[in-house]
Amino acid sequence: MYIVFEGIDGAGKSTQIQNLKEWLEANGFRVETLVEPTDSEVGKLIREILRRPDAQTDHVQKVLALLFAADRMLIMDKLEDKSKIIISDRSFISSLAYQEPAEWVEVLNTYAKKPDLLILLDLDVKKSVSRTSGEDTFENEEFLTGVKENYLKLAENYTHEIIDANNGPNKVSSDIKKAVAPYLGICPDCIL
Ligand code: TYD
Repeated sequence: MYIVFEGIDGAGKSTQIQNLKEWLEANGFRVETLVEPTDSEVGKLIREILRRPDAQTDHVQKVLALLFAADRMLIMDKLEDKSKIIISDRSFISSLAYQEPAEWVEVLNTYAKKPDLLILLDLDVKKSVSRTSGEDTFENEEFLTGVKENYLKLAENYTHEIIDANNGPNKVSSDIKKAVAPYLGICPDCIL
């Protein structure tokens, strides 16, 4: 099963993925986690470009769309492992939410794997901005307002669960477990 976590910056994806991984392992599942952008050479280049002062320009935005898609292709093999649950911090759905124009971004991501389950951590934009450093090009209120809207629309295209990420981490964690359990045949009483 390929589970993808999405949400605007600061939604708590990495913490929640770690919690879910530990819980699933305690329930006997084998789990592997992935993060996009990856730690490949392409991923490193992406992180460097995200901090450049000219990152907002149209051309650099197009370069980023190409690099995100390329970075993703480098981990395609890992998604083929059927013996494990794969949980990914972001996917091509991030590209659809953050990059444009939509038709072109879709073409670039033609071969990206669709998730079996999308967990959308839905966070207020003001909270997002207060939780992030503001160093990356996308960490600003106006842009993230559009991204949040895009996510809510995009989620409709996949099997998805929307989790309110404005709550404290423990509540978010238990909401995620409750949402995921039925997909894996875990009994509701087993949810700690
Ligand atoms: P991420 O590593 O999740 O953020 P952080 O460094 O705060 O942990 O992602 C870096 C940024 O890249 C984030 O603003 C989201 C953006 N992004 C895209 O715009 N498109 C993509 O396809 C991906 C994977 C990330």
